[in-house]
Amino acid sequence: MKVIRNVADLGAAMDPAPGRAPSVGLVPTMGSLHAGHLSLMAAARAECDVVVVSLFVNPAQFGRGEDLEQYPRDEVGDIATAESAGVDLLFAPAADQVYPEGFDTWVDPGKIGAYLEGSARPGHFRGVATICTKLFLLVKPRRAYFGRKDAQQVAVVKQLVRDLELPVEIVACPTVRDPDGLAMSSRNAYLSPDDRQVALALPRALEAGLAAHRSGTDAVRAARDVLDAQPGLRVDYVAEADLDGPTLAAAVVVGSTRLIDNVVLDAEA
Ligand code: PAJ
Repeated sequence: MKVIRNVADLGAAMDPAPGRAPSVGLVPTMGSLHAGHLSLMAAARAECDVVVVSLFVNPAQFGRGEDLEQYPRDEVGDIATAESAGVDLLFAPAADQVYPEGFDTWVDPGKIGAYLEGSARPGHFRGVATICTKLFLLVKPRRAYFGRKDAQQVAVVKQLVRDLELPVEIVACPTVRDPDGLAMSSRNAYLSPDDRQVALALPRALEAGLAAHRSGTDAVRAARDVLDAQPGLRVDYVAEADLDGPTLAAAVVVGSTRLIDNVVLDAEA
């Protein structure tokens, strides 16, 4: 596995040899890699000739007062993890490679990025859309892999690819959960054992919402009831929305940790 840290070297590495155009799969990440990220790498490995993973804690998608400084970082561990997942190239740039002095152009999603996570975290999806656009232009992947865990992010990225006619297929992969039901997330590292017990109300609530939906009753109400009954947790939102398909999405705060999760609202019993 090659590790590349600057944009010029990445451009050279991604230029196909004449007469040969391997399919490139890109998995954008902020590192602190876990089984959720690995599932995206496995999907890319199965479908593409060359697998590129980016590892960049993108300052532009963190708001003031958010956890940019504390965000878990483990570059040495991540390099080993990516290597053992069969990744061909890891792009791990410093912030000034991505945002050199004078950088002043942004990709700003419209309505799809303005509600739910977008209203709770103003500017978040502008940061996500801008870094994803840059990565797509630099890496030139045929496919890029994203997790359904961040369903609104998938919807934002699909909209930007459609609107800007970027030649990349966005592949959405299912949410990977720990055995206790909690969706894997780098931010789960912030949870104490007690916090984690409280946080389990989130997947329970979404399951209750899905069951209600399947029996023709109000999914949001059912999910909210479970969350409201859980001490030690603050509900940010519970909503039904079209996020790359009908979705029940929720955000909660446990201690000082904000967690998001969602389920696809299928019709089947
Ligand atoms: P990050 O939180 O590191 O997630 C990288 C990718 O892994 C995202 O597509 C995310 O949805 C996916 N992922 C995270 N947890 C998952 C889980 N439990 N199951 C399946 N997939 C999961 O999302 C970002 O980084 C950033 O916003 C990024 C897209 C890299 C742009 O900076």
